[in-house]
Amino acid sequence: MDIQRVGIVGAGTMGNGIAHVFARSGYSVVLCDVEQKFLERALSTMGKNLEREAARGKITGEEKAAALARIQPVTDRGKLADCDFVIEAATERFEIKTEIFRDLDRLTRPEIILASNTSSISITRLAALTGRPEKVIGMHFFNPVPVMKLVEVIRGLATSQETFAAVRELSMKLDKTPVEVNDAPGFVSNRVLMPLLNEAMYAVMEGVATPEAVDEVFKLGMAHPMGPLTLADFIGLDVCLDIMRVLQGGLGDSKYRPCPLLIKMVDAGWLGRKSGRGFYKY
Ligand SMILES: NC(=O)c1ccc[n+]([C@@H]2O[C@H](COP(=O)([O-])OP(=O)(O)OC[C@H]3O[C@@H](n4cnc5c(N)ncnc54)[C@H](O)[C@@H]3O)[C@@H](O)[C@H]2O)c1
Repeated sequence: MDIQRVGIVGAGTMGNGIAHVFARSGYSVVLCDVEQKFLERALSTMGKNLEREAARGKITGEEKAAALARIQPVTDRGKLADCDFVIEAATERFEIKTEIFRDLDRLTRPEIILASNTSSISITRLAALTGRPEKVIGMHFFNPVPVMKLVEVIRGLATSQETFAAVRELSMKLDKTPVEVNDAPGFVSNRVLMPLLNEAMYAVMEGVATPEAVDEVFKLGMAHPMGPLTLADFIGLDVCLDIMRVLQGGLGDSKYRPCPLLIKMVDAGWLGRKSGRGFYKY
């Protein structure tokens, strides 16, 4: 499959990182969001991140300029019609992704692959919204996208081997390492990570240790680059709670119940780094 022009829906944290790595690898990118101001913010973030790579000698100044020039920001989704591959990285809400997948299925050529960067929504359900379920797949990048090597490649129930092989190859062309996973709540990454973060919250709630102490145990004892509560604040406590609820609902085991302290903090609007307060103050 010859992929040259890539469409990306959603230009937030993940969308701009995904646009960055595709453009840096020579692909022409059509980056779509609902408002111009989100696209401007994404372009400014990509400019700064590419500049940092240039300053560190990872790319040249010309490569930085060429990468930025390959990105076409659009608010009109119709401009994705001639893309050879589309990845959706919009807000993590099933209704939003439903509308996007139905529309992409209508807009794009029937043979092209539609991928989602979702962290927790079923790829099988997204695929079933389209007339091409064998061409729908999860391509789960990690934040910050230009830095993190992993792509979790998630097969929905109907995803074909051809689609899987194409996305694995595409990930390698982006200098990422694809890991194959089958569709299940939280895939592998969040199914294993979120219960760890949730249990760290229980330890704080029960007075076993302070957030600082829990994080020190993981940094110094397990060589984690950041402790679980710092990481939870970084991901966003609302996002952590949503994912715990997906695991609880999808797997039905009480071991996935969200920590009551997490629920209370989200109710209070303490969402972590982005709101200025979580397990730490920012
Ligand atoms: N943030 C992470 O660490 C992370 C990691 C892996 C995967 N993800 C997944 O990536 C996706 C995006 O997450 P994010 O953190 O970048 O969110 P974000 O809130 O930073 O960005 C989402 C963007 O989608 C846009 N959007 C919403 N509806 C749209 C529509 N109909 N058409 C086009 N754009 C639309 C929003 O305007 C926003 O710019 C989610 O599915 C999330 O689960 C996030």
